[in-house]
Amino acid sequence: MEQAVELQVLQEISTILDESEDIKGILTPILKVISDNSPMLRGAITLLNRDTKEILIETAHGFTDTQKKKGRYHLGEGITGNVVKSGQSVMIPDISKDSRYINKTGAEDELLNSESTISFISVPIKSGKDVVGTLNGSFENLDESEAQNYLKLLSIIASMLARIVKIRQELREENERLVAENRRLKQELDERYTPERIIGRSQVMEQLFSLIAQVSKSDATVIIRGESGTGKELVAQEIHDNSLRKKMPFIKVNCAALSESIIESEFFGHEKGAFTGAFAARKGRFELADRGTIFLDEIGELSPQMQGKLLRVLQEQEFERVGGMKTIKVNVRIIAATNRDLEKDVARGAFREDLYYRLNVFPLHIPPLRERKSDIMLLCDHFIEKYNKKNRCAIKRITSNAIDLLMMYHWPGNVRELENCIERAVLISNDEVVHGYHLPPSLQSAESSNTKFSSSLQSAIDSLEYELISDALKNSRGNKARAARNLGISERIMGLRIEKYHIEPDRYKH
Ligand SMILES: Nc1ncnc2c1ncn2[C@@H]1O[C@H](COP(=O)(O)OP(=O)(O)OP(=O)(O)O)[C@@H](O)[C@H]1O
Ligand SMILES: [Mg+2]
Repeated sequence: MEQAVELQVLQEISTILDESEDIKGILTPILKVISDNSPMLRGAITLLNRDTKEILIETAHGFTDTQKKKGRYHLGEGITGNVVKSGQSVMIPDISKDSRYINKTGAEDELLNSESTISFISVPIKSGKDVVGTLNGSFENLDESEAQNYLKLLSIIASMLARIVKIRQELREENERLVAENRRLKQELDERYTPERIIGRSQVMEQLFSLIAQVSKSDATVIIRGESGTGKELVAQEIHDNSLRKKMPFIKVNCAALSESIIESEFFGHEKGAFTGAFAARKGRFELADRGTIFLDEIGELSPQMQGKLLRVLQEQEFERVGGMKTIKVNVRIIAATNRDLEKDVARGAFREDLYYRLNVFPLHIPPLRERKSDIMLLCDHFIEKYNKKNRCAIKRITSNAIDLLMMYHWPGNVRELENCIERAVLISNDEVVHGYHLPPSLQSAESSNTKFSSSLQSAIDSLEYELISDALKNSRGNKARAARNLGISERIMGLRIEKYHIEPDRYKH
C-alpha cells in the first residue's frame, strides 16, 4: 500500500470513529475501509470475555455467519488465542505452510487449495496493559515488505480502536452475564415446584413445597404435623395429586369423627350379618383406597385398640373384614395428620410407640400462620377472589387499617381462621372495600395481639420486615445488592436493616 493510501485509510477510520454515534455499527465499516484499500480478503475483530476466558469474533468482514460463529478460541488456542495471551502480534507469510494456523472458522478452506498465497496477520488490541481482543486480516499475495507494512498498519488501527473495543467488550460481557443469569433463573423457575392450591411464598413454605415435591413420587408413609387450620388436609391432597397414584382413589378418614363402635368396620369393612344391621357385606376405607392413598386425619385420636389394628395394616398391608375370615391384601399409601403432640402422647402411654415410628417415616411440619406473616396478604387476596366469585361480590381492596389488624393478630386458628375472617368481611362490606371494622372483634382488641410478634404495630412491622429481608437474601443467595433491588430498596437501606436485625447474609450463600 502506498503511503498516500495508507494515510487515506487512517484518515477515513478516524472520521468513522469521530462521527459515528452508534457504537454498535462502528467496527464493520472500519474493516470495510481496510479491505477496500488493500488486498485484505477477510478481516475480523475479536473480543476476550474476561468472565469465561473465551475469545469470540465480534465483527467480521468476508465471513459467512456460520464461519463467524465457529470463530471461538480459548486463551492460547490458535493464533488469535496466542496473540491475546501474549499481547504480541503474529504474522504468518503463508498459512498453507504453517501449522500454527488452525483455520477454525473454515474460511480458508478453498483458498488453501488455490494458487494464491495467503498471509495472516493478527495484532492485539490493548487497553493499557490488558489485551481486549485482536484485529485479524487475511491478505492475498503479499511480499515480505508489504506484509511488514500491513502488520504496522493494523497495529496503528488497533491502537485507534482500543477505546471503542474496550467499551464493546464491557457491553458484551455484561450482556452475556445477563443472558447467563436469565438462563439460570429460568431453570430455577422450572425446577421449583409450586403447588397451585397451596398459597404461600415465605421461606418456610418454599421449604415445605420442596419436601412435598420430594416425597410425592415415592410410596413413603407421610405424617403431616401442624396446628389446626394450617392446611394439613390440603397438603395431603397435594401429595396424592402429585404421586403416581393420582388416578387412583384418595380416601379420607377422620379418626376423631368415628365412634369406637363403627370405626373398625369403617376401616376394614364387614361381612353380611357381622353385627345387627349389617344387612349386606360392605367394603371398608382401606379396601376402597386399594392402589391409591388413604388419608388418616387426626390419627392422634385413635383408641389403643384401633392403634393396634392399624399397626398391622401398616406392617402387612392386610386385614380381615369385621365378621370375616378371609384375609384381604391391599396396596395403600398412608398419609396421616395430627395437630397433637404425639411425642407427649407416646411418653404418657396414650399412643403406641411402635405405631408412632411406623408413621414417622417422613414427617412434614406446616408452620403456624403467625410464623409466616409475609404470606398473610397473599392469602387475603386469594380468599377475597374466592369469596368474590362465590358470592358475586366485587371487593377490590383492603384498607391499611384492616391490613394492620390482620398483620398484628396472632391467628390461633391459622389459615382457616383467616379464611373465615375474609369470607365474613366480603359478605358484610357494602363499599367494595374491606375496612378494619369488617374484621371480627377478636382482631380489634389489644389482648388479641399479646404475642411476641404483635405486641405493637412497630414490632409487627419489624417481624414482617425481617421476614421479607431474609426471604430476599435467600432468593439472591446472600447477594445484598440483588436482594435490595428485588425489594425495591437501596443498598444503603438494605445494609441498615441487615445491621438492625443482625442478619448474616453469608448464611444464605448455599
Ligand atoms: N396455604 C394455604 N393456601 C390456601 N388455602 C389454605 C392454605 N392453608 C389452609 N388453607 C385453607 O384453610 C382451611 C383449613 O385447611 P385444612 O383443613 O387443610 O387445615 P388442617 O390443618 O387440616 O386443620 P385441622 O387440624 O383443623 O383439621 C381450608 O379451607 C384450606 O383450603
Ligand atoms: Mg384437617
